[in-house]
Amino acid sequence: MTAGRVGRHPHKSRPPFDFAGTRPLLPTNPSPNIESFRHNGDLSIDLDQRKGWPAELRVLLDRYPRKTWIAYRSSVAHFWLEIHDGFRGECAALQMTTDDYRDDRTTAQEFAALVSPRLRAMISHLHGHHQIEDFHYFPSFRAAEARLARGFETLENDHGQLQRDIAAAIGTLSEFLATAHAGRDSSAAQRQAAERYVAASELLYRRLCRHLSDEEDLIIPLLLDRGR
Ligand SMILES: [Fe+2]
Ligand SMILES: [Fe+2]
Repeated sequence: MTAGRVGRHPHKSRPPFDFAGTRPLLPTNPSPNIESFRHNGDLSIDLDQRKGWPAELRVLLDRYPRKTWIAYRSSVAHFWLEIHDGFRGECAALQMTTDDYRDDRTTAQEFAALVSPRLRAMISHLHGHHQIEDFHYFPSFRAAEARLARGFETLENDHGQLQRDIAAAIGTLSEFLATAHAGRDSSAAQRQAAERYVAASELLYRRLCRHLSDEEDLIIPLLLDRGR
């Protein structure tokens, strides 16, 4: 996370604005029908093509650029950034674990023992985080600032893409674990399975980090603008 922490802004008032409870970002028994909360996917902006938001979705970010966030004290914004930092840290740790294996500093069995529980824990946490965003925060934010509706549409679609990426990472990890548990030798099949996992997991990390950054650029300025 490169963004500064959110600190005090002595001149900012706190106008009435109800995000209907803002923390913690934990699951709250959402409806299983997630698609009912999604709009026309044609409105979204592709996760792999994005390099930040287009001008029409930067109306608040231009007013509250990242370098100014540190000047505000917003417990909600701080908490949001902290949660996202946690995901970035987990991605980095998982990547280091993968690098250790690929550079022969760990065996397949050691890699399997480290990566499997860590990846599954991060995915579980991420799933809960996305659910509370999809069912609680994004609807509140969309209602609060209609100009950013397309951005929230895009973030919701990102969650769907990331869910597919998670499935791919878990699937390839399972294939690798099967080869790792089959024998201690570094077989060609084992290496190939590992490379398929590496490709899938690195795509997940890259897309997740893009999503986290864009989500912050949409949401943190809104929180600050509304004095939250
Ligand atoms: Fe998200
Ligand atoms: Fe998030």
